Amino acid sequence: MTSQPIGFLDSGVGGLTVIKEALKQLPNESIVFLGDQARLPYGPRPTEEVAHFVQQIAGFLLDQDIKALVLACNTATAAALPILQAKLSIPVVGVIDSGSQTAVKVSSGQHIGVIATEGTIKSHAYQRAISNIAPNASIEGLACPEFVTVVEAGQYHDPSTRELVADQLQYFKSHPVDTLILGCTHFPLLTNAIRLAMGADVTLVDSGVETVRVVKQLLTDQNLLNTSGHFEQPKFYTTGDVAGFSAIAKDWLQLAQLDVSHVPVEE
Ligand code: SIN
Repeated sequence: MTSQPIGFLDSGVGGLTVIKEALKQLPNESIVFLGDQARLPYGPRPTEEVAHFVQQIAGFLLDQDIKALVLACNTATAAALPILQAKLSIPVVGVIDSGSQTAVKVSSGQHIGVIATEGTIKSHAYQRAISNIAPNASIEGLACPEFVTVVEAGQYHDPSTRELVADQLQYFKSHPVDTLILGCTHFPLLTNAIRLAMGADVTLVDSGVETVRVVKQLLTDQNLLNTSGHFEQPKFYTTGDVAGFSAIAKDWLQLAQLDVSHVPVEE
């Protein structure tokens, strides 16, 4: 039982920021990841459609005999976390609660910003999660959908991306925050540009890092950690282009070899 893989899903390569953390914090676990690149971005799509896609992908990962499922995508978490938690008998973890909890903990003045996709911002999922723990916190949400596009295009090191990030985050000059949640798993690939734009005084919260901590704790509590000493190399699937996915995954994860396969979906 415990040597079964953990399943991770995202609309694209953003979930790799969570995988990078999982490889650090859970080195003895087998990992299966699916990025739904054929149908990204999820951000502008209606909630019901995203929820449908996420349940489809969850079905594919369940067929790989996973012992836990991580929605390594904020838009997917906002649209489908409660549905999957109610439906599945394995633990299902999203990225929004853990990011919110950390932000409240580290924020010096409870002025918290969230950058995310339109879907996540419109869902008010972060506002709800933060207000539940810190009713007096002020929350500024900003949709930055172009950030997803440049990351998926592999342009996260480009100088033009730094300019785009600086330009979009100007918003926080007139809406100051002391803490900023990277509320889309694609955004940690832009950490340097975001840090430069926000300044050293603003604390950045990567919800993926916190999510893996939650997953580790949950597996420990439920006696589901892999203690067998046997684990597989991570297995990656994309519904999009294998070569494009592999190039970004190798660069971001700093792995020379990756096992990546294509999975077809109706678009
Ligand atoms: C997107 O597909 O729009 C990005 C999804 C996310 O990480 O929220």
